Amino acid sequence: MDFPDFCFNRSRCFFQVRIYFNSLLQINLFFSAFFITYLISPKICHRFVGFLEEEAVITYTRCIEDLDAGYLPVWAKTPAPQIAKNYWKLPDDAMMKDVLLVVRADEATHRQYVKKINDFSDVILLFGI
Ligand SMILES: [Fe+2]
Repeated sequence: MDFPDFCFNRSRCFFQVRIYFNSLLQINLFFSAFFITYLISPKICHRFVGFLEEEAVITYTRCIEDLDAGYLPVWAKTPAPQIAKNYWKLPDDAMMKDVLLVVRADEATHRQYVKKINDFSDVILLFGI
């Protein structure tokens, strides 16, 4: 049996392939469960996504607090990546904290958006949109 070039170590290659397929399996299981749940009750799925967005806001807030408290000295001195400056239209001298602030604000709008969808999901379902 031939192995691709990156499989210079046979047991490591099997391990990587196993991790890859396990990940695919877990993604498929989650997608299927989420899809079936959405068919049964879209509100539950919207609520779940709302919790994820809320958790993201909390996580970014903690990250910013740690940055301000000096627990992340490398990030405190790291300039924002160019791709982040382009996407969020940050100034050239933007730092990682600026990226965290705009990403947190973005997640907060996601949270509000999902909450609105949840508030109106009965109306959406009523009109079959
Ligand atoms: Fe989000």
